[in-house]
Amino acid sequence: MPAEPTAPRSDLRAAVRALLADADAFGVLGDGANRRPAADVARASTPARGFGPAPTAPTAPVPPPHAAAAAATPATSPVADPATALAGLACEIDACRRCALGGQRTRSVPGQGSPRAELVFVGEAPGADEDREGLAFVGAAGALLTKMIGAMGLSRDEVFIANVLKCRPPGNREPAPDEVAQCRGYLERQLAAIRPKVICALGAHAARSLLQTEQSVGKLRGRAHPAFGAQVVATYHPAYLLRTPSEKPKAWEDLKLVLKLLGREPPARAPAAAPEPVA
Ligand code: URA
Repeated sequence: MPAEPTAPRSDLRAAVRALLADADAFGVLGDGANRRPAADVARASTPARGFGPAPTAPTAPVPPPHAAAAAATPATSPVADPATALAGLACEIDACRRCALGGQRTRSVPGQGSPRAELVFVGEAPGADEDREGLAFVGAAGALLTKMIGAMGLSRDEVFIANVLKCRPPGNREPAPDEVAQCRGYLERQLAAIRPKVICALGAHAARSLLQTEQSVGKLRGRAHPAFGAQVVATYHPAYLLRTPSEKPKAWEDLKLVLKLLGREPPARAPAAAPEPVA
């Protein structure tokens, strides 16, 4: 049998060095003390995109493993392209047993959307629907998130949607601090691969994990916080907005700030004074 072709050692070393440098920029490898300054984390240029129609349903499930895409990366490529990096991460997440949740869930939920998204939404953790489908935000809160994205003149396919935790906590309980700590590196590496301009933190768990603070969403919302080479905007979680619709106008203000940071205008059909554009 012919031997498998192997890449030259120097190429492999260069690829590993580049990947480690990329991960280190976001503190994946340590406590962040060795991070590159944000200015060094140059964003890959992304082509201008038009507004697409809001989808009526989320994209079809992509069952893990994504090994085919990951294996397709040539060993000589210094840095994986975002889609390949995300596919490799999805495989890692699916095999992850760093906390007990990995052995309890039905499907892992790495997140989905455009690998080159300028905007990433980060929620808390998969619920029952997400656990069944392996996709983030596909339940009732997901339906509202779809409307929120649509009100911004965007579609789910144009953004990336992920969670702090990639596996469902049993009974939809809150994420435990050790689970957040074990899972944090995956989100950081997803953000390092995508390099979004803006990250919208949905709810307290996402805001606190992304901004490493104990402050409430009420305190954090309404302004941009620089982090991960991007601007983080915190707003209320769609599940909270379903329970407390009177807060929707504040969420819409936050989404308009996101649009402003992206250099976009709210679509004309969502008037600024509308009380509930995300209803
Ligand atoms: N679905 C998700 O994927 N994340 C949440 O935070 C809530 C529902």
